[in-house]
Amino acid sequence: MTKRYKRHRQFELSLTIKDDQFLGTPRDAQRNWFLNRTVKEAYEELLELDAIASQMVRGSDQVIDLDRAKGSLDDADIMEDWQIPIMKTMAEAVVVPGADVLEVGMGRGIASEFIQELHPASHTIIECNDTIANEFAVWKEKYPNRDVRLIHSMWQDCLDQLGTYDSILFHTYPLSDEEFVETVVKDVTFAAHFLEVAHRLLKPGGALTYLTNEFDSLSRAHQRALFTYFSGFSLSVVRDLDIPETTRDALWVKQMLVIKVVK
Ligand SMILES: C[S@@+](CC[C@H](N)C(=O)[O-])C[C@H]1O[C@@H](n2cnc3c(N)ncnc32)[C@H](O)[C@@H]1O
Repeated sequence: MTKRYKRHRQFELSLTIKDDQFLGTPRDAQRNWFLNRTVKEAYEELLELDAIASQMVRGSDQVIDLDRAKGSLDDADIMEDWQIPIMKTMAEAVVVPGADVLEVGMGRGIASEFIQELHPASHTIIECNDTIANEFAVWKEKYPNRDVRLIHSMWQDCLDQLGTYDSILFHTYPLSDEEFVETVVKDVTFAAHFLEVAHRLLKPGGALTYLTNEFDSLSRAHQRALFTYFSGFSLSVVRDLDIPETTRDALWVKQMLVIKVVK
C-alpha cells in the first residue's frame, strides 16, 4: 500500500494506492513522481478554485424546460447578450477571407454576421430549430451575393451532406436535461462529442473553435481529448464579460476561454 498526504490549514488531501502493481513504472522514482504530481496538482487546483469561487456569477441551475429543438425561443433563451463579444472572438479565431466555413448552430445569427464580415468564400450553417431555420431566408437577404446556405437538421443527421472546410465554428447547446448531463456534466467539455467529426470535416491546416465551461485553463482530460484527434491548439481569454447575476447560463466567472484547434 502506498500513501500520500498533503495538508493545508483548510483542507487535507490523502491518496491511498491499494495495489502495488498500479502505476507500475520501470523505476520507483518514476512512480513517485506520478503520485506526487497528482497530489500536488489536486492541492494547487483547490487553492486556485478557492481564489476564484467568490467571483462566480450566481446565475441559476440549468433546467431545460423549453422545446429547444423545435419551439419558438426568446433571444435570451438562445444566447444572452453578454456572449456577443465571444462570438466575435470565435469568428476571428478561425475565419480568414476566402475560407470555406461551417457554422454549427445559428441561434440569433450573431456569429454568422461576424463570419460574414470576414468575407468567407462559402458559409454553410447547420441549424436544427424550426423557427430559427425559418428566419434564415430573411437573414440571408442582408448578404445577397454571398454563398451562404442553411442545412435545416441536427448536425448528427446531415454529415453526408457536408464537404470539407477551412474553418468550423461549433456553438450548439444541449437540447434536453439528459443531453446536458451526458455532454456537460459527465464529459470533459461540451464539444467533446463533436471532435472526431470536426477532424473529419476539416481540411489539413483548417481550424475549429468552440467554447468550454473552463475559464482559466484546460483540464488534462480535455487536452488529451483534443490530442486524440488534433496536433495542436491555442487558447484566448475573453475578459470583463458583462454577465448579469441573473444570467440563465450555468457556471461562469466573468471571463471565458475560446479554443482554436488546428488539424
Ligand atoms: C447558443 S445557440 C448559437 C448562438 C449563435 N452562435 C449566435 O451567435 O447567435 C445554439 C444553437 O444551436 C442549435 N443546435 C443545438 N443543438 C443542435 C444540433 N445537434 N444540431 C444543429 N443545431 C443545434 C440551437 O437550435 C441553437 O440555435
